Amino acid sequence: MADKEITSLTIRRPDDWHLHLRDGAMLRAVLPETTRHFARAIIMPNLVPPVVTAAQASAYRDRIMAALPAGANFTPLMTLYLTEATDPEDVRRAHADGIATAVKLYPAGATTNSASGVRDFEKVRAVLDMMAEIGMPLCVHGEVTDHSIDIFDREAAFIDKVMKPLRKKVPDLKIVMEHVTTQDAVDYVRDSIKNLAATITTHHLIINRNHILAGGIKPHYYCLPVAKREAHRVALVQAAVSGDKRFFLGTDSAPHTDPLKLQACGCAGIFTAPNTMSCLAEVFEAAGKLKKLEDFAALNGPKFYGLPPNEDMITLVKGDPVTYPAQIATDDGPVTVFDPGFDLHWRVAG
Ligand code: DOR
Ligand code: ZN
Repeated sequence: MADKEITSLTIRRPDDWHLHLRDGAMLRAVLPETTRHFARAIIMPNLVPPVVTAAQASAYRDRIMAALPAGANFTPLMTLYLTEATDPEDVRRAHADGIATAVKLYPAGATTNSASGVRDFEKVRAVLDMMAEIGMPLCVHGEVTDHSIDIFDREAAFIDKVMKPLRKKVPDLKIVMEHVTTQDAVDYVRDSIKNLAATITTHHLIINRNHILAGGIKPHYYCLPVAKREAHRVALVQAAVSGDKRFFLGTDSAPHTDPLKLQACGCAGIFTAPNTMSCLAEVFEAAGKLKKLEDFAALNGPKFYGLPPNEDMITLVKGDPVTYPAQIATDDGPVTVFDPGFDLHWRVAG
């Protein structure tokens, strides 16, 4: 059956392998948007102050659990924010005790709240060696921060300047290149034999840099890494729909209130949690690969992380255009929901 004729698709319940939930009022407002469809998510630690230690991750997990909507069945998989002062033994214990699933590497200054990130990679070598030994994955924000490097080249430069040397030094370390945005990153991950995977966001499958800059500046499409030219978006779609086990969904849904987005120096981040599954179904259908959506959103991620896929299923149904709110209200202010720029016909039933 051609994909255009498929009107219902049942897949394992998906997981989100890269998610920003924030804290406090924002956490309470955005969490239901994820728990509605997703069973698990890798929770980013870039709070202010960042979630660095096992104790901080445990406390943050408790706050997430306390904010869960009634009846939600959701497991937050916590990450630790890697700093040059991170204690390898604290990370080891956090992993052994089931508090932290992964460690997050932000090059210092690369993105929102990354000031405490890593400048000198030799200073975190002991942590990385220990993680390789225990099989704990490192999630990497893959952009160099060198101001002399063009922002559109920062991911490709990161591969050459950081990833290649790092993987030579610590070949047994499992690495997830987060939110890849370029053909270069797709090729790099596809050429690797083991211990390397990549997450792809919903929005990078849909927007290119024209969405941000052509016909007026559109802050709601601004995120980091910034969307690249169309050929890169096409490469991301091909990777996502290929079924290749090294590529899986990490939405990077990153809520900021509208006042923080819509200012002279607006925040980076796109809030896709409310309509991600509808957007993805649309992308996979357009590629004629609806049957691969389950691999991307529900199977490849757990396989890389060494976890079982979810037992329960969800059904996506195609019909009249779906309505979803343009904004989510929070006590901190409104948060605009990602606008894919086309009608969404797929909704998650039930
Ligand atoms: O666009 C982004 N927003 N990219 C990131 O890396 C961080 C995120 C955030 O925390 O807002
Ligand atoms: Zn992120």
